[in-house]
Amino acid sequence: MKIKKVLTIILLASSCAAFAQSFTVNSPNKKISLSLHLNAAGALVYHVNYKNKPIIEPSNLGFKINDQADLLNNFSILQVDSSTFNETWTPVWGETKTIVNNYKEIAITLKEKGDKPRILQVVFKVFNDGVGFRYHFPEQPNLFHFVVADELSTFNLTGDHKIWWMPGDFDTNEYTYNTSQISEIEKLAKKRDGAIFTATPIKGAFVQTPLMIKTKDNVYVNIHEAALINYPAMDLKFNLSTFEATSTLANDAVGNKAYMRAPCSTPWRTIIVSDDARDIIASKTILNLNEPCKLTNTNYIKPMKYCGIWLEMHLGLSTWDFAGGQSASDAGSDGKQKTKTKHGATTENTKKYIDFAAKNGFGGVLVEGWNEGWEDWFGKWKEDVFDFVTPYPDYDFKGLNAYAQSKGVGMITHHETSGSVTNYERWIDSAYRLMASVGSHALKSGYVGKIIPRGEFHDGQWMVNHYLRAIKKAAQYDIMVVAHEPVRPTGLHRTYPNFMAAEAARGQEFNFWSEGNPPEHETILPFTRLMGGPMDYTPGIFEIKMSAYDITKKEQVHSTLAKQLALYVTMYSPLQMAADLPENYEKHLDAFQFIKEVPVDWQESKYLEAEPGDFITVVRKDKNSENWFLGAITDENNRDTEIKLDFLSPNKKYQAIVYQDGKDADWQNNPKSYAIKTIQVTLKSKIKLHLAKGGGAAISFKPIN
Ligand code: NOJ
Ligand code: CA
Repeated sequence: MKIKKVLTIILLASSCAAFAQSFTVNSPNKKISLSLHLNAAGALVYHVNYKNKPIIEPSNLGFKINDQADLLNNFSILQVDSSTFNETWTPVWGETKTIVNNYKEIAITLKEKGDKPRILQVVFKVFNDGVGFRYHFPEQPNLFHFVVADELSTFNLTGDHKIWWMPGDFDTNEYTYNTSQISEIEKLAKKRDGAIFTATPIKGAFVQTPLMIKTKDNVYVNIHEAALINYPAMDLKFNLSTFEATSTLANDAVGNKAYMRAPCSTPWRTIIVSDDARDIIASKTILNLNEPCKLTNTNYIKPMKYCGIWLEMHLGLSTWDFAGGQSASDAGSDGKQKTKTKHGATTENTKKYIDFAAKNGFGGVLVEGWNEGWEDWFGKWKEDVFDFVTPYPDYDFKGLNAYAQSKGVGMITHHETSGSVTNYERWIDSAYRLMASVGSHALKSGYVGKIIPRGEFHDGQWMVNHYLRAIKKAAQYDIMVVAHEPVRPTGLHRTYPNFMAAEAARGQEFNFWSEGNPPEHETILPFTRLMGGPMDYTPGIFEIKMSAYDITKKEQVHSTLAKQLALYVTMYSPLQMAADLPENYEKHLDAFQFIKEVPVDWQESKYLEAEPGDFITVVRKDKNSENWFLGAITDENNRDTEIKLDFLSPNKKYQAIVYQDGKDADWQNNPKSYAIKTIQVTLKSKIKLHLAKGGGAAISFKPIN
């Protein structure tokens, strides 16, 4: 049901002083209150209380504009509109079958004093779990085409809070997280990560969003953005003595931030608040701030699990390239054919994966290294590397798509752009048309490397526009998208549900060839990166230690095998990879059963326990059955917990299969130790779980007829 009450107050300039210049809007549940006032300088100031205590102290709103005065103060209030909104909508896929969108809105229209006044509107929506605000530039005589030099939104925090953060960087978000007080940012940000290929860290007290915050009074606050469209991504710069954060936008190649043309709006700035950490990760506010679905056809959009030719290259068992730097037909000086590297994406190998997917009910097979160009793609800042349409001679692109479809499986086509986005845009129509012609409805794109146009950043307005252009273009060809190395998601999958998932954080791959992701990593991601949308984390690694492949290797996945199962539930994505090699699953078919059964689309999700950096326990009900699935994970500490099963339906008995860490399991010393038991439970039952260091547990619940 939709209720929209509109109250409009028109303030005549002459009588302004007579009107109250401050406004308060309470959330529907009254827990959050937003206050706004015009200060003595004529600047609009906002602050936010949670349960009657300040959470954001008076904070500024405004802009620096190129070649113009700042759009910041000297305002009078022209008009105030307020309304309430309440609807329930149905996402194409997701963590819940329906989503409630309930908020109170206030829009303040500001007009500059003086002879050539500009008009700026600030719109606030106050939800039960947070606040979103954005700027709108109406059509007007004195502001048409303009360039944002800086956004001056501030978030004035109430103290030196604990935060979970990564350093500001306009090119990458593949960092591990720091946990510290705000005052320690600059000191800790100096730690650099050599494993990230294209990092452009910003010097100083800069952090990325989503930023997770916890106050001394145990209030959790998350700052991010929603509906990032035609605008650069926002980082935050902290004042280390006042704890005030100011928005910092990614710049373009010539130092500008955003090219605007009125009428236009910025993305929403989001502040999610609760004294219960579970509410933060369950929040739908970022999604609600995005526009409803704009796609007319969503029939091809199918949440699925997938496997693929991927890990073997990350392990060095095979290669993306066909011939190790040589073209296939190259002969050496001795006249003999040069030895080919062991190319992963061969027709024969791909058939093996298709058969594996078909046997286990997976919807997709990803193949990387199928197309020409991989011989010399990495780190060269070259314009023309790939054409996205020419398969290597040992890969039957068309035949494999047909073979997969005959087995009920879809091929996930891979496009690595190597950062040369100009080139990708030249090929994009031909490439997507080719996919459509063979019935490949899923694309994994990648943006490894420095961006071309040279000087642009992954997070700048130009690239933000590219990523969305690609998603919209894909929709024209009935293609779902998962993007790696993109700008961090901001809930756009509500509007474009063919945008299934993204990387935009440090994925599992780092565990294969770097110092990896610490055991706490997956307990932080839902509070940070996943706030904006699903992540293609690539869980399900059973062969934990890389020494299994090469005795000299020290790298390892920083979790137990049981935790790898739990990740399918704790890290929501409508596309989940079964990332390990088929032969590793064959060795543990009892544990693999959970990956086979776990759904990727849900009716209902309940977060039972959560603390950023420590643990998460969630249960979800399958969208298409009465089955429930539980995932519980911990950080480097072991953990004992007791789960009440009161989420189950009354008058039903369930068979529960519990997959948990073995008694002697430990992510470092004994990660593959696990135990599986089958028990009968009802909603009155409780289950005790012991999670090992770096461990986890996964449970399936099926009603017994
Ligand atoms: C980085 C991506 O994250 C990874 O999944 C992919 O295999 C490589 N780039 C190659 O494109
Ligand atoms: Ca990556």
